[in-house]
Amino acid sequence: MNPKTLEPLFNYDHMDRKNGRSNGLTGQDILSVDQFDVDTLDYIFTRSCEMREMVRRVGSTDLLRGNVLTALFYEPSTRTSSSFIAAMERLGGNVIPITQGVQYSSVSKGETLADTVRTLEQYSDVIVLRHPEIGSAKAAADNATIPVINAGDGAGEHPTQALLDLFTIRDELGRLDGLQIAMIGDLRYGRTVHSLTKLLLHYDVSLRFVSPEILRLPLTLMNEVIDAGIDVRETHDVADVIEKADVLYVTRVQKERFSDLAQYEEVKDAHAITPEVMKRAKEDMIVIHPLPRVGEIHYSVDKDPRAAYFRQVQNGMFVRMALLAAVLGKA
Ligand code: CP
Repeated sequence: MNPKTLEPLFNYDHMDRKNGRSNGLTGQDILSVDQFDVDTLDYIFTRSCEMREMVRRVGSTDLLRGNVLTALFYEPSTRTSSSFIAAMERLGGNVIPITQGVQYSSVSKGETLADTVRTLEQYSDVIVLRHPEIGSAKAAADNATIPVINAGDGAGEHPTQALLDLFTIRDELGRLDGLQIAMIGDLRYGRTVHSLTKLLLHYDVSLRFVSPEILRLPLTLMNEVIDAGIDVRETHDVADVIEKADVLYVTRVQKERFSDLAQYEEVKDAHAITPEVMKRAKEDMIVIHPLPRVGEIHYSVDKDPRAAYFRQVQNGMFVRMALLAAVLGKA
């Protein structure tokens, strides 16, 4: 209930005041990774480490006591919805969970996204929205006076996933500069790929894109990568990248985005990370995946210490705790 246009009542961030700068996130919508610069990323990651430390020491705090988050999910989710809920609860806040299918809300009676958002902001301080249409988070934000966080808008962006992906890479490997990162799978529809690629343009990385022909990275995004002067190559074969990659970012082929299911069947098993593939990878590389997986990483890879995807899942909660605290003006 803090209007975006007003300063929040309690905006006490000791570190920022000490440094004489604002983190710039208080009261803001989080719609795209385009709004993050390196300083903001560093800020979020420092806060995420603090959240992890706090959770490990005491489990929860009352930093966001009195605040309410609405989780409004028009598409299925396990990790994003539950980690936002866990994040809010570990910070002492409360949640209105509309995550079990909006068919049980007045959306099923034909209520528009705009009216749904205008209603839910009467009860809450922040709305986390997942929706199947590109641009839906922006449309919701334009109708809201409280911050809206994009939890995935169709094949568009998934900015908080990209934050936790980047945090995980840095946390696991100790750096971002100098890394070779291979993105594998559905690069066309994979919104997490789009958001993470944009964030990586802030760093001195090499990018390798591995996909079937019909699932290549969108041309506009590839042009952004080239314009940023990044060392980049595309291939159809994981074998071309496995030996030099520091990070394998594996993604699911997104069946729900195909209009022609025969095309999906043709490409769904294009890539699989198996123990045999992992034998050719570096000792100190990592495999991450936004999850869910549907066969593209074999279960037998899970016991490999380089398989970091469940550590990545846990990082999602810490990063979302940091983000919520910042957006709600409580750092
Ligand atoms: N990574 C991710 O967005 O997972 P969910 O779809 O389960 O939220």
